[in-house]
Amino acid sequence: MELRSLGLQRAHLVSCAAAIALGSWAIAAHAEKREFNLTIDEVTINVAPGFNANVFAFNGQVPGPLIHVREGDEVTVHVTNNTTLPHTIHWHGVNQTGTWKSDGVPLVTQQQIEPGSEFTYHWTADRPGSLWYHCHVNVWEHVAIRGMWGPLIVDPKNPSALEKSVTRDVIMMMNTWESPFGGSYGKGGSPGDVADYFSVNAKSFPLSQPVRVKKGDVVRFRMYGAGDEVHEMHLHGHDQLFSHKDGYALPNPYYVDTVPVGPGERYDTIVQMNNPGRFIFHDHVDRHLNMGGMLGGPITVMEYEGVAPDNWYAWNGKAYDPDFFYSESMKKGYGMFTNVTFIGTAPKSERRARQQ
Ligand code: CU
Ligand code: CU
Ligand code: CU
Repeated sequence: MELRSLGLQRAHLVSCAAAIALGSWAIAAHAEKREFNLTIDEVTINVAPGFNANVFAFNGQVPGPLIHVREGDEVTVHVTNNTTLPHTIHWHGVNQTGTWKSDGVPLVTQQQIEPGSEFTYHWTADRPGSLWYHCHVNVWEHVAIRGMWGPLIVDPKNPSALEKSVTRDVIMMMNTWESPFGGSYGKGGSPGDVADYFSVNAKSFPLSQPVRVKKGDVVRFRMYGAGDEVHEMHLHGHDQLFSHKDGYALPNPYYVDTVPVGPGERYDTIVQMNNPGRFIFHDHVDRHLNMGGMLGGPITVMEYEGVAPDNWYAWNGKAYDPDFFYSESMKKGYGMFTNVTFIGTAPKSERRARQQ
């Protein structure tokens, strides 16, 4: 038995060595097995000044952890539901070739994951791009206003020259909130309910963060419609080369200045940072500036290195989180990456456990 497993190990090593010897194409073709653990917890996050939301959070945070793998990788994810309502996880964009029971749709591919229970998903990263994962139970509430979403980036086996030119990834997940239901699990998101707060990576301006760049950077913005409305994302001062739709490379990329990111969609643009200054990147839907509440919504600012600070600048002296758009995590290779900035307060499941 021991000899047999040793033999298998040796065969694996030999195939890796052969792949390396054959050059980069062969290395890229070598799939890895990756295994992750996700919990779903009830926490409260601060979305905007004066607005907190109770959420179902993957590993206690919104957005959920970044999962970064390579095309062909075999992925196993163990999910534990620590909340008071049932959930599943749908891997949006993964085609589940030969693994349809891991598609995460309740009453179609699996039973929902009940409170206190676990479920394991197995799938292969069968296509590249900006994918994502989200709950597929009561999506109008759990996805639209309870933060049950996170980025899943699948690097292509054979990246294009344009993809290789990128020096920094910026992951922007736009979504909607309904403050009347912020504190009430099990309610909201129904027809007639009105979204009144809007955010990028679960923070409305000014709680969102800038993107600090320098001249010569090539930024790949990966924009997600994680909520229930269309976000018209407009970057000032730069041409955006629209390069990927729903993770797929366009045969002929073209320049745009405003990108319509609807529910479920992903738009990637690749931008040459060639115009030093401070430039806003915002949602052009006026209602999404949290009108009626506080001026806010999905807003960030390109802050170029070397531009002198102004004391009237809204984010002058702001504490900077370089990983707010997962830019630092995306440089760290493959795996699952968390960010403390996104973690909510006092999971109820922990409070319950402590009280018992
Ligand atoms: Cu759910
Ligand atoms: Cu989806
Ligand atoms: Cu504008």
